[in-house]
Amino acid sequence: MKITEQIELSEKEMTMHDTGEPQENHNKIPKGWLLFFFGCIIFLVGYIVSFTPAISGWSFYHNFEKEMAAASKTEKPNVVKEYTGDKEAIREGKEIFANTCAPCHNADAKGGIGPNLTLAKLKYGVTHKDLYESIANGRPNGMPPFLQQIGSEKISKVIAFLEPLRIK
Ligand code: HEC
Repeated sequence: MKITEQIELSEKEMTMHDTGEPQENHNKIPKGWLLFFFGCIIFLVGYIVSFTPAISGWSFYHNFEKEMAAASKTEKPNVVKEYTGDKEAIREGKEIFANTCAPCHNADAKGGIGPNLTLAKLKYGVTHKDLYESIANGRPNGMPPFLQQIGSEKISKVIAFLEPLRIK
């Protein structure tokens, strides 16, 4: 064994000897940690570059507008079908009314707990739109909303049933 090797060995023994004091040995950082560390830095720089509007042009508002423009092409406008005068719809509407509305408005719609719906004038209006609002979303003094329960189709059919009953 060469002398230098012997010195190295004895140094090692010295450092191995636990004196109880905290020791600072020259340990290498594990490769995995180094890789992770530099990986983080590279990722961070890339992230900042690609999501900074002034650098990459990326913009949340821009993306949002693009998505909204695409959506408006596929989204159907919320048009409620009108069944005015449609005999089949009126027949169905009568049934729906008998099951759902008659307990409060009576089967002939002339009123009970709820008001008479055959009058020429109603508190909340008598146009298709007014009636739809009244039935779909309800009215404050005890008219429950029915959109969830029966849907817009059936509401329109009930309106078709109510319209000819109106006293002109
Ligand atoms: C729980 C009882 C109840 C049921 C069930 C009910 N209504 Fe009503 N409805 C009322 C009351 C009470 C009012 C009055 C609300 C107000 O004046 O704010 C009313 C108001 C209305 C109005 C507005 C009348 C106006 O004066 O402008 C319409 C239209 C109407 N109901 C239709 C219907 C239809 C159609 C159904 C069935 C799908 C129905 N209602 C079911 C109690 C009911």
